[in-house]
Amino acid sequence: MRLNVTVNGRAEAVDDVWEGESLLYVLRERLGLPGSKNACEQGECGSCTVYLDGVPVCACLVAAGQAEGRAVRTVEGLAEGDRLDPVQEAFVEAGAVQCGFCTPGLLVQAHDLIERNPRPSDAEIREALAGNLCRCTGYEKILDAVRLAAARKAGAA
Ligand code: FES
Ligand code: FES
Repeated sequence: MRLNVTVNGRAEAVDDVWEGESLLYVLRERLGLPGSKNACEQGECGSCTVYLDGVPVCACLVAAGQAEGRAVRTVEGLAEGDRLDPVQEAFVEAGAVQCGFCTPGLLVQAHDLIERNPRPSDAEIREALAGNLCRCTGYEKILDAVRLAAARKAGAA
């Protein structure tokens, strides 16, 4: 089947999509967007998190056909041109990236949190990121990064 989907603001038409194919597969293998990671393919780790019509979802659990006519925003779409989103900058500055496998999903999830709740408490940050697993960092630096990004965005607003 042909899939028509808008990805990071660009209309895409993807041919020969198989009914069982996931949105994650389409993004990574057909559209050349490897930012969203495939770590578990079972909805357990959050490394494949993308926005679907503005709501974070695990792209590995979304059938490609479910994205028909809809808008997807991936980690590649968070930056504005060469300018990183403040959440991305904060992850780098806080040292919240080690192997990086969890990072794209965490960035999308943290970006969504701060958009919805510009001054999240630590408990709210933990709750928002509860579905995103990281095997490397122990999470403290990730919390630091989200606090930093939220403070910066609040300061800039
Ligand atoms: S790869 Fe989708 S949740 Fe792990
Ligand atoms: S930095 Fe390696 S899994 Fe999070």
